[in-house]
Amino acid sequence: MRDTSYINAGTGLILGIESSCDETAAAVVRGGTEALSNVVASQMNLHANYGGVVPELASREHLRNIVPVVREAMDRAGVGFNDLDAIAVTEGPGLAGALLVGITYAKALTFGVDKPLIGVNHLEGHIHAVLMEARQRAETPMELPLLALVVSGGHTHLYLAEQKGEDRWRYRNVGRTVDDAAGEAYDKVAKLLGLGYPGGPWIDALARRGNPQAVPFRFAQIKPRIHRNGIVPANKKAPPKHDGPSFDFSFSGIKTAVLRYIETNHMREATAERRAKLAEHPEWKPDTDEAAALCDAQTLDLIASFQHAVVGNLLRQTFAAAETFGARGIVVSGGVAANSELRRRFQAEAGRRGLPVAFPSLALSTDNAAMIAAAAWQKLVAGDFAADDLGPAPQLRLGGG
Ligand code: KG4
Ligand code: ZN
Repeated sequence: MRDTSYINAGTGLILGIESSCDETAAAVVRGGTEALSNVVASQMNLHANYGGVVPELASREHLRNIVPVVREAMDRAGVGFNDLDAIAVTEGPGLAGALLVGITYAKALTFGVDKPLIGVNHLEGHIHAVLMEARQRAETPMELPLLALVVSGGHTHLYLAEQKGEDRWRYRNVGRTVDDAAGEAYDKVAKLLGLGYPGGPWIDALARRGNPQAVPFRFAQIKPRIHRNGIVPANKKAPPKHDGPSFDFSFSGIKTAVLRYIETNHMREATAERRAKLAEHPEWKPDTDEAAALCDAQTLDLIASFQHAVVGNLLRQTFAAAETFGARGIVVSGGVAANSELRRRFQAEAGRRGLPVAFPSLALSTDNAAMIAAAAWQKLVAGDFAADDLGPAPQLRLGGG
């Protein structure tokens, strides 16, 4: 490990690099709060043709983008490499090949410009995106313990953030999905309905045109995941390791229920027509009116009911966990945090309970590097630097769960 004892946090000027999934991103953030630049090269259009992220394509695109994206982030921030106090990079979780591009580049850079390297957990990044913006708005800092819902295409996790020592936080994973992530359910249901990718924004927009009470979806109680003999079945994820109850999620059932509804109600043909129409014009980005015109009333009702049920489930689990663990505030982040119904209902419920709730701006709710640089700030202050052998950790967890 390199000797970093001579380093102090300086002005805390950190270059963050993120390449865990389908966005190549770089940002320069000062003191964990002030984003001097935030550059994101999205591969969304590339993967949209396949209805999901293709790992090999993602790595290749990251390779193509990483140098210009970092250069642009430095240029926009108006700083040179020598001005930096550290370089931070996402170490996981994510796609191995995609992570490797960011990590390799960040490591080469730290050697080249002789700056320390900080490895950041992508999930902690999502949480810090929200806290960074709350600080920018000069809001009263959120008090710990804090409950964070990280909800995206790959994650649906509840974390309890607690103080550990003077300048560190400790995370406890108190809830997680036992199967699909919420964003994944949005994407899969959108695909079933012949809508575009990613499905979240389509469903969010179209849900406003339907009746959310039309289809009464139900979420079953999730059974404990450990077999009687204590062995976790091979196809199941290991349960979080912490004392106390967990507030888990399951979204694969509602996806199957939507499929069944489509079949029972003879909606297959209309769905195939919609899919074909959109496939004819892959570059077409319909506005809400145009998208709604592709759907009949029954489809819009199904979409509205699906969203109402998913948001309701996220809301119930989150607020129940907040109450159980005595959280003093709630942070929601990840791609699904952009959802308008989710924001509205979480704000209303938090208001009723007198709990502060914070969301990231739309720009920081999806993957970006400002959140990585912001999360690295605490680590810089604590002198928590990465070892020379830092490598991709595709299954990296936060808080042991
Ligand atoms: O955090 P993110 O950009 O990438 C990861 O998955 O890590 O999240 C992307 C996910 C996708 O599943 C997408 O459908 C969903 O976030 N999403 C939304 C909305 N915008 C994006 N889901 C619901 N409502 C939205 N407005
Ligand atoms: Zn993410």
